[in-house]
Amino acid sequence: MEINVTARLPKTIENACQIIFLFSDGKLKGAARKIDAESNNAIKKLFSTDDFSATCGQTLVLHNLSGTQAERVLLVGLGDRAIARTSHWIKAAAAAAATLVDTPARVGLTDCLTSSPITALGISEQAMHLARELENATYVFGLHPRQAPKASSTLEQFYCTADKATLEAASKGAYQGIAIAKGMSVAKDLGNLAPNICTPTYLADKAIAMADSCDSLSTTILDEADMESLGMHALLAVSHGSRQPATLIVMNYQGKKRKGSPIILVGKGVTFDTGGISIKPSSAMDEMKFDMCGAASVFGAMQSMIELAPDINVMGIVAAAENMPDGNAARPGDVVTSMSGQSIEILNTDAEGRLVLCDALTYAEQFKPAAVIDIATLTGACVVALGDVASAVIGNDQDTIDALLAASSTSGDHCWQLPLWDEYQTQLDSNFADVANIGGAKAGAITAACFLSRFTTSLNWAHLDVAGTAWKSGADKGATGRPVPLLVQFILDR
Ligand code: BES
Ligand code: MN
Ligand code: ZN
Repeated sequence: MEINVTARLPKTIENACQIIFLFSDGKLKGAARKIDAESNNAIKKLFSTDDFSATCGQTLVLHNLSGTQAERVLLVGLGDRAIARTSHWIKAAAAAAATLVDTPARVGLTDCLTSSPITALGISEQAMHLARELENATYVFGLHPRQAPKASSTLEQFYCTADKATLEAASKGAYQGIAIAKGMSVAKDLGNLAPNICTPTYLADKAIAMADSCDSLSTTILDEADMESLGMHALLAVSHGSRQPATLIVMNYQGKKRKGSPIILVGKGVTFDTGGISIKPSSAMDEMKFDMCGAASVFGAMQSMIELAPDINVMGIVAAAENMPDGNAARPGDVVTSMSGQSIEILNTDAEGRLVLCDALTYAEQFKPAAVIDIATLTGACVVALGDVASAVIGNDQDTIDALLAASSTSGDHCWQLPLWDEYQTQLDSNFADVANIGGAKAGAITAACFLSRFTTSLNWAHLDVAGTAWKSGADKGATGRPVPLLVQFILDR
């Protein structure tokens, strides 16, 4: 699908769906007013009969109205005009996009930027979210062989009109939205792939393929022997029980200026987490293929960088390993020495994410980064605390955290800060090593971050726990592409 932000629609449009966004006050502007006037008040009548009251995200498809070239008119509710902000717009745009791709329309159109502007957002952001949601709605996972492949959308063109004065801002916003959605698709594809396919080696090959396809990205892969010589025994302890060798993937995106210290994204890439010897219960264990979604979001953000080509340096480091039980697997009680020199008592082999991340974070130090953000499906405790709505952000640098919180409001990709107070650190005391890899039953998301903080003392660092946000369970099971919007917004804001 091609998204066009344009001052004027093409003269003839066939097989189209016109989207009309309406606030619950029922005031009609632009195309809505014209259609209503020429169709015997078809829209106003709906409001008076309560068939459509424009609650946020409500949709209704009407056919064969006058006053438009489009065969279909899709009404979408925006709710209360006075309180409308990012989350409402995203909800409405997502509902519009989902309904649109379910129609057989080939063309979509809307004049929402002029007739239903969300004042709290600005034209560029409104266009960004609309484009992102449209692009997202057309996503279908198609990387596994299937005899009955899922139908893809018939949508080919989308036109969004804008005034001359706002055309440039709107186009720029839409372009950004498309780039973010493309990054999200990369993250979703990697997350959704079966764990027998998406191995640490597969992820390394993916990075190589991405680097081969463009000039702005280069990549280096460290294998287990390289990691051995760097002393990454925490990371290696996780992959010991697996037939799949671990990989450490370093991706380097350089904008035109090629100067300045990089922002580094570090992703947890546990391609399958059985828990190891501290094995998990078998119910829903398949979902632990999503334990590489932090890594997938790093790939996704890199893809968005390639699309947007900003003048900034961004590195992605992915610590990829599979956590399996085996005769060679790490045992509870094992003590390993990390690349930082700190020894770790592995009290629970299921707390493996922090083990792969700590060595990747130490590895990041040499690049003298301006900021480091790690992204990880790290704890079930985070899901208990924040559900599937917000990712947790915890770190040692309040400026980086504040920038992430700001990017969270702009992108609508929620994150919420949890504290990293010293009082939590004693939960990681070990009688046999510098630090234990678990902190007991309380405050699990925080003690996991406390563990990581032991390896980031020389970095401006923030950690994102995306255990609740990176994928959905149940009937909609699948990767969400989060937190790619948050990461890309954070980078572009700099
Ligand atoms: N990958 C899991 C975290 C997870 C669990 C994410 C369920 C989403 C849903 C992680 O490796 C893990 O197993 N964490 C343990 C840590 C514990 C042993 C301290 C957890 O959260 O139970
Ligand atoms: Mn685990
Ligand atoms: Zn895990």
